[in-house]
Amino acid sequence: MLSETDAKARGLADLPEVESDSLLKLISLCNADPRPEKIDVGVGVFRDGEGNTPILRVIKDAERILLETQESKSYLGSAGDKRFAELLRPILLGEHAEDNRIAGVQTPGGCGALRLGFELVATVNPNARVLVGTPTWPNHPPIIRSVGLQIVEYPFYDRDACSIRFDAMTAALKEARAGDVVLLHGCCHNPTGADLDDEQWADITRIVIERGLLPLVDIAYQGFGRGLDEDARGLRGILAACNEVIVAQSCDKNFSVYRDRVGSLFVKTATIDATARAMAHVFQRAREMWSMPPDHGAAAVRIVLDTPELKQRWHGELAAMRDRINSVRRRIAGADPRLAFIAGQYGMFSMLPLSREQVLKLRKDHAIYMADSGRFNVVGLSDDQIDRFTAAVVEAFGA
Ligand code: LMR
Repeated sequence: MLSETDAKARGLADLPEVESDSLLKLISLCNADPRPEKIDVGVGVFRDGEGNTPILRVIKDAERILLETQESKSYLGSAGDKRFAELLRPILLGEHAEDNRIAGVQTPGGCGALRLGFELVATVNPNARVLVGTPTWPNHPPIIRSVGLQIVEYPFYDRDACSIRFDAMTAALKEARAGDVVLLHGCCHNPTGADLDDEQWADITRIVIERGLLPLVDIAYQGFGRGLDEDARGLRGILAACNEVIVAQSCDKNFSVYRDRVGSLFVKTATIDATARAMAHVFQRAREMWSMPPDHGAAAVRIVLDTPELKQRWHGELAAMRDRINSVRRRIAGADPRLAFIAGQYGMFSMLPLSREQVLKLRKDHAIYMADSGRFNVVGLSDDQIDRFTAAVVEAFGA
């Protein structure tokens, strides 16, 4: 009989340590802090004035309908719920909803969509470089590296000036090579909250065309900034101008279904045939990675979007989340002139011009948990935490 020896060249015990994701690490640190007054402005989840992340009423209603009407849980295939992807089209693509050179597929959250989109890029052009703005969501670089693509950073945001480095950004993009991918945040930039305005989107779109770049737009917070259509304007301008576009979309935030992992990938090419071929690769890659996406959350979203009464109420619940985000922004901005920039930004995040040491001191002295970068979740604050938070931040800024 064979027995295990120590003679293996490399065993699992030889695996190196992993530098775990900074945001996941922050969740654990905050959970482990016993101080009852702790303030969690780390990971991006919406909270109401009382500090809760309730399930949307329309999702609860859709889940009830699902429970009563779903007759089978047999496989749907790698495309997942096709009706779900179809119903998202007008919301995401607006005037491009009927463009049949654009095809969509359900994915496990926005993260799954990003991975699938970059898999597609790596399949067609393994030498493509991906231009990534700094700073960006900490999980972007690992996802891009995991498919073997090279990352080239471009400057996006000046943390001290609290504004977009637009000239530096455009100068860097003008140096890009044809075939490079440019990763853009559709709205509610994560981690800075600093969104391009219409004119800046138009300039970036021009550079994308001039340089022959492939835009990949990550849009995970549609509806949390100015409104569903307003938040998608930059993306739709890109779709109008470019023959090839990849869009990674998430419903996790705007339907508040975070743990259910609901997202989609949309691909546009110049022709219906080329899109069909691209989607065949997308389905194959999806099959290799997760075979088929989880159904429950997407089915609930599909029921909401397919039921006029629920859809209308979803607009209301989304507007209420957006209004809270923007009113918390205004309250923080009013606390001190050095926080005024927060009122001009969008979505869940803004980035405070604090050093890592200052962030760690806020954690130690005030039990305030924000990312080391100074990113904080504006709407992580319950109403009664806002003044304590701004007072501590102003104290950290110094006189
Ligand atoms: C965030 O940036 O906090 C969210 O996108 C959640 C995540 O998975 O990182």
